[in-house]
Amino acid sequence: MRIGVLTGGGDCPGLNAVIRAVVRKGVTAYGHEFVGFRDGWKGPLEGLTMPLGIQQVRGILPRGGTILGSSRTNLFKIENGVERVKENLAGLGVDALIAIGGEDTLGVATKLSDLGVNVVGVPKTIDNDLNGTDYTFGFDTAVNIAMEAIDRLHTTAESHHRTLIVEVMGRHAGWIALHAGLAGGANVILLPEREFDVDQVAAYVEKRFQHEYAPIVVVAEGAQPLEGQMVLQNQQLDSFGHVRLGGIGQWLAEQLEAKTGKEARTVVLGHIQRGGTPTAFDRVLSTRFGLQAIDAVNEGDFGKMVALRGTDIVRIPLIEGTGELKTVPLERYTEAEVFFGS
Ligand code: F6P
Repeated sequence: MRIGVLTGGGDCPGLNAVIRAVVRKGVTAYGHEFVGFRDGWKGPLEGLTMPLGIQQVRGILPRGGTILGSSRTNLFKIENGVERVKENLAGLGVDALIAIGGEDTLGVATKLSDLGVNVVGVPKTIDNDLNGTDYTFGFDTAVNIAMEAIDRLHTTAESHHRTLIVEVMGRHAGWIALHAGLAGGANVILLPEREFDVDQVAAYVEKRFQHEYAPIVVVAEGAQPLEGQMVLQNQQLDSFGHVRLGGIGQWLAEQLEAKTGKEARTVVLGHIQRGGTPTAFDRVLSTRFGLQAIDAVNEGDFGKMVALRGTDIVRIPLIEGTGELKTVPLERYTEAEVFFGS
């Protein structure tokens, strides 16, 4: 078989480990051939390819990013997008596609599969907000990076008797904030799933100072205060209408300074959480996802996505991984609240 591989959406540590596992097993165990599509769905759309064999995947296991490049191209928003992809796949003699991506990329894969294209999906996102899988690779790496940052910020916050606010990624789901906050011993954690009361946050911060320690507040980029506490200014939104990184963290620092009379600083971790080498957990998960994906293609089991259920890697219908996002349940948040302000 001739198999196309692509990576779409925001990059994520572990993408290269998936590609390597797919190609290594595909060539050595099954004798398949591969075509690398560049920059997500833009690759098959515009016929942008690169060679993809044993040679190209050598040494890439620990490398962050993706050797194939990525983009947020959505075929269904482009005129004749699907027809062009189908033509290009036929012209290149590609029998099946492995699409590695998040909600958007897998959403496109689902629709293509319904239109008769042979696709298998591999879920990825540092946000861990994809349904159908217990964890996505990249999440553990992002959490570890944020945790290390929080560990370092405790000592500088304490030395200067300041509040330190760490803004982490997570526009719609607060998994990174919750896990990094718990792992790093944060004193307040704020998630997009639950609007926060800025006066309550200030009270937690003051309580922490009363215990003669400096507070660390972890805030997800998508967290919002109660209605009426903040009116978003236009300049805080990017051209897609998303809150700009640094928006909520900076706003919170100003509010907390005014309400507590103590200095506050904000650190926006941003894309540091997405770059660089994956943790051991993410390398193993991505490798196992890759192995399962190539098995699915080899068996002609299309329209599926691989997923982690407990400790098993399983295949589920692509549709189950897309659609609604997996957000942090309330009980996971209230469990963490016992640490707030103490
Ligand atoms: O979905 C992954 C993610 O890193 C989000 O956490 C973040 O909101 C977004 O992508 C940022 O995307 P970009 O910088 O690629 O536009």
